[in-house]
Amino acid sequence: MKNLSDLLAEGVAGRRVLVRADLNVPLDGDKITDDGRVRASVPTIKALADAGARVIVTAHLGRPKGEPDPKFSLAPAAARLGELLGAEVALAGDLVGESAKSVVAALTDGGVVMLENVRFDARETSKVDAEREALAAELATFADVFVSDGFGVVHRKQASVYDVAKKLPAYVGGLVDAELGVLKKLTDDLERPYVVVLGGAKVSDKLGVIANLLTKVDRLLIGGGMAYTFLKAQGHEVGTSLLQEDQLDQVRGFLAEAEKRGVELVLPVDVLVTSEFGKPEHDVVATDAIPADKMGLDIGPQSRELFASKLADARTVFWNGPMGVFEIETYAGGTRAVAEALVKSEAFTVVGGGDSAAAVRALGLPEDGFSHISTGGGASLEFLEGKELPGISVLES
Ligand code: 3PG
Repeated sequence: MKNLSDLLAEGVAGRRVLVRADLNVPLDGDKITDDGRVRASVPTIKALADAGARVIVTAHLGRPKGEPDPKFSLAPAAARLGELLGAEVALAGDLVGESAKSVVAALTDGGVVMLENVRFDARETSKVDAEREALAAELATFADVFVSDGFGVVHRKQASVYDVAKKLPAYVGGLVDAELGVLKKLTDDLERPYVVVLGGAKVSDKLGVIANLLTKVDRLLIGGGMAYTFLKAQGHEVGTSLLQEDQLDQVRGFLAEAEKRGVELVLPVDVLVTSEFGKPEHDVVATDAIPADKMGLDIGPQSRELFASKLADARTVFWNGPMGVFEIETYAGGTRAVAEALVKSEAFTVVGGGDSAAAVRALGLPEDGFSHISTGGGASLEFLEGKELPGISVLES
């Protein structure tokens, strides 16, 4: 794969560079609540602009239904990127229409513009190759080269990630390069004990990665909503907690596989329960005594200590998914405890994207307390699952 350094060495002054970034940030109205992904996109864009390139950024936000929807405009991301670059980033009113054409035509050397949400065009995510290719061809008319720097989307076979890389000379961006470097350390000769902490709502989102991790890890700690399906599979009642009945057999298989392989699978021993989602009044109960009318929203104090002790001697840690409903202060303690244990740890610690990265920042933990905070949630999980990432394989070919 040719990378950003190769491109800069070739010289980019005056060349039009299409950069696929991942600017899919959480919003509250039109306010960005966690700008981590915008900040992570800056170094590549800045390096290109500083070298005199004409930079055209393309990205998605949320999951609009293939047509313009102001709720999903990239305007907040363009404004934030402009602030971070210290230069205005003009946002086209469309993706490949008249507005985009004129914004790109007005670009000068060292300038940065952004196209509107690429998912406003249904061809971006189409399963029909010809449709995606047609959009990719239109995007390619804007640029001389393509830089793939949206790590969070490299697992998507989409026009602006995959197909456009076939239409232009394509390079891997600085962020994608760095992310791959870190994740490879988790698959190649890693230092043991290797401990993985998984959380988040649904076990069904993590089936592939759990199956794969059971062949690699020394210890697997499970918290968050997905823990209740594991607890139920062990024969505990979980009250009204999140439960994926249809995954119980699969999870029983994981429990058996862990035992067979000598992988220590650690589940919460106590939880914070309440009667209604989000209600702050709660009790702490053992996981074998969850009342029938209560739901668990965070791991309890003993579980926090247990998880921290299981992380203490780790040499490599990967963490994906919050331990509870961390957005509500009452139920943020479990996620905070895991994050703090990682900050204290001397292990190589990787936080895998999405909610866990947002949680680290929302809880005010020092970002430099971790070896790496990934920008990719699904992408980092699919990498660890050993799946082919279309946005990477297209660059390799
Ligand atoms: C993410 O948020 O994980 C990436 O931006 C990909 O978004 P998607 O899951 O909507 O494809």
